[in-house]
Amino acid sequence: MPQLIELGRLTSQAQPSTLRVPEMEKGVGCDFSSYLLVPDTSLDERIGAAVQKLGSDLVILGHHYQRDEVIRFARFRGDSLKLAQQAAECDAKYIVFCGVHFMAESADVLRRLGQVVILPDLNAGCSMADMAEIGQVETCWAELEAVGGLDVVPVTYMNSTAAIKAFTGLHGGSVVTSSNAARVLQWAFTEGQRVLFLPDEHLGRNTAYSMGIPLDEMIVWDPEQELGGNTELSIRRAKMILWKGYCSVHQRFLPEHVDRVRAEHPGMRVIVHPECRFEVVQKADDTGSTEGILKKITAAPPGSSWAVGTEVHLVNRLAKTLTDRTVISLDPHVCVCTTMFRITPQHLLWTLDNLLEGTVVNRISVPENERRWARVALDRMLQLG
Ligand code: 13P
Ligand code: SF4
Repeated sequence: MPQLIELGRLTSQAQPSTLRVPEMEKGVGCDFSSYLLVPDTSLDERIGAAVQKLGSDLVILGHHYQRDEVIRFARFRGDSLKLAQQAAECDAKYIVFCGVHFMAESADVLRRLGQVVILPDLNAGCSMADMAEIGQVETCWAELEAVGGLDVVPVTYMNSTAAIKAFTGLHGGSVVTSSNAARVLQWAFTEGQRVLFLPDEHLGRNTAYSMGIPLDEMIVWDPEQELGGNTELSIRRAKMILWKGYCSVHQRFLPEHVDRVRAEHPGMRVIVHPECRFEVVQKADDTGSTEGILKKITAAPPGSSWAVGTEVHLVNRLAKTLTDRTVISLDPHVCVCTTMFRITPQHLLWTLDNLLEGTVVNRISVPENERRWARVALDRMLQLG
């Protein structure tokens, strides 16, 4: 039997932490607090009606981790690469991004003149993106320059702030996502001798290793320590300098979880997101971005069975929709991206109702000085495919 982790009650309740009214939302357009009282039963109808009224002025983008009650209204669903491509191509006046802050920022960098990007809850951040602050990255760069003769290319994961993307663009680097990391790294090694990979240690290590770079040519840069906790010699020997950052959701998957699945479900395939630890990825049968995981399991033969190491909303959706195969979470203890989870149907309705009244709430607006260079880094990635 597919193992479904029930999140329905959580999602439909007005949880004080999820639905608290942020300071900047108060007193703008219609007041969000009144939406706390909107009965769940009327939300679908009201959101649907608002979407219809806004017509081609609106595009809703939904990341695969989004809860069902929200993602059902997305015109486009996808991983962060696919959604960035959609944002760059769409003509709608309003891009409502049901994802997290760094995704909406990227959409704002890629948008056309006159388009507006909205994040329904400004508290929907990403703990990994917060692990690399621009000041820390600049200090790291200055220390690497002081070592001298290193020829480093910065590469940043999409899951980073616009300021870090701008830094990367300015210094001749590129953005990557989990679905094009190897392609972009290949390019980066034609541009320089070494890569500074921000901010996900695991994606950097997993990708570089899959390209044949041995572990002893990779070091971790801890921003809390001088030279990132390394010596000049170890830096000179390294091809990959991995920023000490991680996703708290994916880091919960452990090699023991793979062992347990192997013991309890013989024949079950294990597929994990490359944000998982190296040891987990090594034990898994396959890795993939969220879109990659979805495609792989969708294309698999009926009757096949899968243990998936990624956020549980995607896993549950696959289990519910692909009823002729078995899909379970690799970790029996639910792995929820709590920040993605902050986007509720109430927030979505509130943003749409405001648009109908001609008011834009929760606009994401990247400052001009960051936009220019962040765009360079994002365009480089999009050109690389
Ligand atoms: P994807 O690019 O695979 O959608 O990953 C984004 C993310 O944040 C995963 O944690
Ligand atoms: Fe960030 Fe992890 Fe959530 Fe992805 S799953 S958005 S990396 S916190």
